[in-house]
Amino acid sequence: MNKIENDLFLRACKRLPVDRTPVWIMRQAGRYLPEYRAIRQKYDFLTLCKTPDLAAEVTIQPVDIIGVDAAIIFSDILVIPEAMGMALSIEDGTGPVFAKPIRDESDAASLKDIDPGTDLKFVMDALSVTKKELNNRVPVIGFSGSPWTLLTYMVEGRGSKNFSQVKSLIFRNPKLAHKLLEKLAKAVAGYLSAQLESGANAVQIFDTWGGILSPEDYREFSLEYIKMIIASMKKNDEPVIVFSKGVHQSFSELASSGADVIGLDWTVDIGTVKRQIGNDVALQGNMDPTVLYADKAKIKKEVKRILQSYANAANDNRDSAGSGNSGGHIFNLGHGILPDIEPENARAFVEFVKEESIKQHSAIAV
Ligand code: CP3
Repeated sequence: MNKIENDLFLRACKRLPVDRTPVWIMRQAGRYLPEYRAIRQKYDFLTLCKTPDLAAEVTIQPVDIIGVDAAIIFSDILVIPEAMGMALSIEDGTGPVFAKPIRDESDAASLKDIDPGTDLKFVMDALSVTKKELNNRVPVIGFSGSPWTLLTYMVEGRGSKNFSQVKSLIFRNPKLAHKLLEKLAKAVAGYLSAQLESGANAVQIFDTWGGILSPEDYREFSLEYIKMIIASMKKNDEPVIVFSKGVHQSFSELASSGADVIGLDWTVDIGTVKRQIGNDVALQGNMDPTVLYADKAKIKKEVKRILQSYANAANDNRDSAGSGNSGGHIFNLGHGILPDIEPENARAFVEFVKEESIKQHSAIAV
């Protein structure tokens, strides 16, 4: 494979030396960008996902406009249940809706086993086009939802406040829940392997709803399946990032899940987590996405605080990764960027991470 010009992101994932902290933004291709909205005026969301040239175009937009160090392929986590046969629509104001949610054995029996190379070929094609058009400027991240997070949408049928349906399922019929989770884990492992095969340089598993479970239930219904996926993926040395939102008590277990990188939301201090789990994995995160509503001075202050917190912990941990004390950190927000953020603030955020981390790395190196 051709050498990637800016490989800071991949190096940080593998805890190799870097001369500054790389940065990208979850949900970086999306509605906060006028350039994205201009394309969305002409095509609906799923058409965008399924037209490789368009998906590639919006994937690359934040690299050019915001200056991030990695691209993430434009798609959605819900393309897997759709490929399994569930009719999906993305409705303005409501978000994703499955017309017929999965509630019992007969619903579950209607779900097809998928072959990602054919059923999700449009994602593989989007990756190939993106790789070609990016011309190795930055790495491309592939992704999937975790089995648990996919199951929540499949059972609830749409976003939810209390997750009553999916929680009823796991507590009243755990056998069926496990059967579905296993089916999803197999599909996700195949899907992520196929994305790597099609040119993705790393993959991220989004477990957005891991944190609605107690630590014990998280282990049983989410983490076990994430581990299964990582263990069974066909891959070379490509990094796997796991972002399980809100699972504060489970970081040590996550660190031994086989993931190279653990994504953190903003409700934990990154330095505290680093001290707790040690130096075996890299950390990604973790600025509160709503800090991007603030003025630039506040954004900069918050970026510096997070960089410093990580560096202090790395120093205390005697972490030998990277140059200085900041190796093994990928800067990101603690969840996706919100649609009403000013692109100018996203750009300033990325710039601050670059400037401030260079200062920090060189200050420590001398
Ligand atoms: O990060 C990126 O830029 C790549 C693209 C991406 C999308 N969705 C595009 C999208 C990624 C990585 C996702 C992941 C995703 N999708 C998650 C996990 C991450 C997270 O944010 O928690 C989840 C839970 C979904 C499911 C989903 N898809 C929701 C809840 C929604 C509606 C909410 C919203 O943001 O509108 C979607 C639709 C969606 N996925 C949009 C985009 C850009 C908006 C659709 C539009 O253009 O109208």
